[in-house]
Amino acid sequence: YVVSYNDADSLERIFEKSASKIACFIIEPVMENLGIVLPDAGYLERVRELCDEYNVVLIFDEVKTGLTAGHQGAAQRLGVIPDLITLAKSIGGGLTLAAFGGKKKYMDFVTNGKMAHFGTFNGNPLAMAGVRAVDKICTKETLAVAEAFNQQALDRINEIIDEYQLPAHTVGFGVKGCITWTTTPLRNYRDYKATDFAIAELSWLFSLNRGIITPPGLDEQWLISLAHGQKEVDLLVEDFRAFAQALRA
Ligand SMILES: Cc1ncc(COP(=O)(O)O)c(C=O)c1O
Repeated sequence: YVVSYNDADSLERIFEKSASKIACFIIEPVMENLGIVLPDAGYLERVRELCDEYNVVLIFDEVKTGLTAGHQGAAQRLGVIPDLITLAKSIGGGLTLAAFGGKKKYMDFVTNGKMAHFGTFNGNPLAMAGVRAVDKICTKETLAVAEAFNQQALDRINEIIDEYQLPAHTVGFGVKGCITWTTTPLRNYRDYKATDFAIAELSWLFSLNRGIITPPGLDEQWLISLAHGQKEVDLLVEDFRAFAQALRA
């Protein structure tokens, strides 16, 4: 079953009809492959309640949020506790790894050996060293500094959007930010599909030609890492100003 993000009523209808056939509900707490789509107020809380009511395991896919959402991920930041969680990307500082975890009730199946969990790269020493290093350097304090830089970038880019009256808005979460080419916030995938991809591609190419490499998915998402500072934020903002000027020239 597939259900639209930010639509708890649909989820409820599906659960009402089919919960006995549904083992789990997996969701990105904040969707980050469409720019950044934030949960409506109360949405994730309602999802949690519905999963409890219908006895469905709630899994948060924090592959893209994770450490970028804050010291303890999006779940902690948004105050909704899943049953299981998947993590990758940011927790390895660039090394290839993934992890999952969750409530004792579920993880006991792995730790008591009932469910074998083996793999060639499980516990790979290099990847584990990466996790340890990230754990050491990504403290609450250092992440707060990166987040402040991100907020500064978002604020300044918003000013440029206003100044040049561009049909766009920014969204930020933790150390990530994006520019979305609509004037109204996105709430789900359909909203995203209705954004202006032609201008998104133009903006992506413009930045790429000036040394700013964001993912090619046209969601214009950036991440302020601990290696970035004022110089990089200025570069990002001034590149966007140059783009705005070129568009309006
Ligand atoms: C939100 C999200 N979940 C899961 C995945 C897939 O992870 P993997 O490639 O480890 O299967 C990705 C990949 O980028 C992702 O963005």
